[in-house]
Amino acid sequence: MTRAVHDDPIAGFYERHPYPPPVDDLSAVRVLDVEGRRTAHHLVWPRRPVPDEPTLLVAGCGTSQAARHAARNPRARVVGIDVSTTSIDHTRRLIEQHDLSNLEVHQLPIENVAELHESFDHIVCTGVLHHLADPPSALAALRGALAPGGALTLMVYAQYGRAGIYVMQEYCRRLGVAPTSTELADLVATLRELPVGHPLDHVLRNSRDIHDDDALADALLNPRDRAYTVPELLALLDAAGLRFGRWERQAPYRPDCGSISETPHASRIAELPVDEQYAAVELFRGTIARHTVIAFADDDPPTDTLDFSGADADAWVPIVVPTAIAVEERLPPGAAAALLNRAHAFTDLVMFADRAELDLFRSIDGTRPIRDLGPGALRFVERLWNHDLVVIDASVGSTS
Ligand SMILES: C[S@@+](CC[C@H](N)C(=O)[O-])C[C@H]1O[C@@H](n2cnc3c(N)ncnc32)[C@H](O)[C@@H]1O
Repeated sequence: MTRAVHDDPIAGFYERHPYPPPVDDLSAVRVLDVEGRRTAHHLVWPRRPVPDEPTLLVAGCGTSQAARHAARNPRARVVGIDVSTTSIDHTRRLIEQHDLSNLEVHQLPIENVAELHESFDHIVCTGVLHHLADPPSALAALRGALAPGGALTLMVYAQYGRAGIYVMQEYCRRLGVAPTSTELADLVATLRELPVGHPLDHVLRNSRDIHDDDALADALLNPRDRAYTVPELLALLDAAGLRFGRWERQAPYRPDCGSISETPHASRIAELPVDEQYAAVELFRGTIARHTVIAFADDDPPTDTLDFSGADADAWVPIVVPTAIAVEERLPPGAAAALLNRAHAFTDLVMFADRAELDLFRSIDGTRPIRDLGPGALRFVERLWNHDLVVIDASVGSTS
């Protein structure tokens, strides 16, 4: 099995074109403080208390992803695996340079993760699965490495938003463009002349890949990549014995967030089963280029879902996410602020707040439960949560 994966063209490709572009210095990585760890944890597990020493597997870690996680969270025990020697060597250099005693790396295919004989609280696998020969079995292998209650953060390419990438991949295939530096320079020069309105236009505008040869090769000359629609991704999770938990950022998939909520179709979409809602909103947006989902083993009880109409909801503590901001200029009449998450790729995902709501937003300090925030707080916090502006600490009184 290991041999077969090492012979895979994908492994050879990433030896020659390591991703992300290697860096030598992690000093810009901010170490998470107590609040930062709490916020990151409760995004995934609202109801579980923050563990002292979480275990994290970064599956297909590339040149620096595992090192970044280890640097960001020195209390976590981090394991990185990848098939590419270049990625493993680079990560080992970062371990030495930054004294990352909480990180170990192994040259190991995801498909063979059971050889670690270990299970993890959290598995992160981003930008990898869509390059594999058999994504369902790789995903099932990762599921087998989840500790009880463990979560998987998975990022895969999204089909509709990558339409332009696939147009240009086909173009490159027809011309036989090779991933050499001369050919890549010619390709960049050609891309600069793409007609306005070309389906790759918006992808290039939102991407730094064109400025880096390896990243450009990764996007346009990759020997294997596929993409998933929402229903395909949900079916993939299901086939691997995983249960959908949430989107890492959920507002782009919701009919009650952003410009779709203003349309005559919003209420019609809201009547659909929730999976169908996500599928419809993906089609409405048209340019979602990647999906990041948080999933759990399907035999774990779904203890980490949030029901804002439940009896315990007003005891929950909201925490404002670090990328949330309140903009107080260029507002429509009656609004005191536009609340938005700077990490959203879509600019329509704004929540307008009147003066009382803005005061309520400002009173969220990560310690006060919803019931202490004043009248109307529960409904308002639910909207903030839908818009990815807060996470919820519902672990108060939890025994799990
Ligand atoms: C696009 S890079 C993503 C790197 C990293 N996850 C990130 O987001 O920065 C894909 C990585 O997956 C690795 N990879 C490909 N096939 C793999 C496999 N079967 N098992 C483990 N890693 C694999 C490649 O070597 C490469 O480093």
